[in-house]
Amino acid sequence: MTHLFEPLTVKSVTLKNRIGMSPMCQYSAVDGHMNDWHFVHLTSRAVGGAGLIIAEATGILPEGRITPGCTGLWQDSQIEPLARIVKAVKQYNAVPGIQIGHAGRKASAALPWAGGAHLSDKEGGWDIVGPADEAFGGALTKKPKPLDKAGIARIVSAFRDSARRARDAGCEWLEIHAAHGYLLNSFLSPLTNTRSDEYGGSFENRARALMEVIAAVQETWPENLPLAVRLSATDWVDGGWSVDDSVMLAQKLKAAGVDLIDCSSGGMRPQDVSHYPVGPGYQVPLAEKVRHEAGIHTGQPMRRGFWGIRRRRFFLCNTAGRKFFYSAATGTSPAACSCLRAR
Ligand SMILES: Cc1cc2nc3c(=O)[nH]c(=O)nc-3n(C[C@H](O)[C@H](O)[C@H](O)COP(=O)(O)O)c2cc1C
Repeated sequence: MTHLFEPLTVKSVTLKNRIGMSPMCQYSAVDGHMNDWHFVHLTSRAVGGAGLIIAEATGILPEGRITPGCTGLWQDSQIEPLARIVKAVKQYNAVPGIQIGHAGRKASAALPWAGGAHLSDKEGGWDIVGPADEAFGGALTKKPKPLDKAGIARIVSAFRDSARRARDAGCEWLEIHAAHGYLLNSFLSPLTNTRSDEYGGSFENRARALMEVIAAVQETWPENLPLAVRLSATDWVDGGWSVDDSVMLAQKLKAAGVDLIDCSSGGMRPQDVSHYPVGPGYQVPLAEKVRHEAGIHTGQPMRRGFWGIRRRRFFLCNTAGRKFFYSAATGTSPAACSCLRAR
């Protein structure tokens, strides 16, 4: 058995324990720049003892942000505020990481406390893109513009440039956001990718955008530093993305040099939410299957899953999301944790 408080080495990085903080949007940035809010949010959890701190979904382009309050790494002026936080996180012996992504058809949304609906141009919103032209639904009513090849190439390059900025800020762990119905996830799922060109149709084609992002990011992200991908390991509905698809994709990603698959789930369509079997540790079996069958490190956000993992005595690395909000610095109570595991 591997213990929660044992170190874990991935490439040249050693986490002092297997407790980490999941990326969590704070909706508190100004023009994508991190500030004192993010400093306190991230550094205090490092002080609390987590081995890994992953900063929130950070837009690779301004229009790739979920909300106007989301952080970004699309311009060099965003490096310094992140570097300040990275330095402090390292000072407290945690590994500083960041998640970068593009929100696709779920972008241009109001802050959650302002309702979270799509913003019109007058309200400060912007045009959104996706693999196809279908709106997400619910309060996200805007129709995305289907990306053409030049649009995909621009986004792939923006991921590369954001990875370079994360590197320059001193981040030591990079996670590509391909989960929760955001852009890369919506290319993967047959529920949302109805394209008929080389970016749609077959599994290989639907995975193409993500694989191009990985290759581009590797041009700037150091080879010796961990590269992770967060997937929605299943859409939880027939005809959608399945955990078997995730295993196949994890095998491809591993062959491409990815070190860890962070196995979340769902988020693709609002009408499917009632199918999610939400409960303590409900995402553990997804990560377990990916880890065993693809032979790669995994993580999974869970709900109060810490106990489930502990009873089963196979946890190797644990990250917590909202628990860190409830228990300001330490996140030590077992509720609302998520878990990373070595292969
Ligand atoms: C306020 C909030 C913001 C979140 N932001 C992100 C995010 O930026 N990227 C992401 O992949 N998941 C995000 N999530 C999901 C969490 O990372 C985590 O997977 C989820 O909360 C389940 O884990 P938990 O039960 O330990 O909180 C967010 C969750 C919350 C509550």
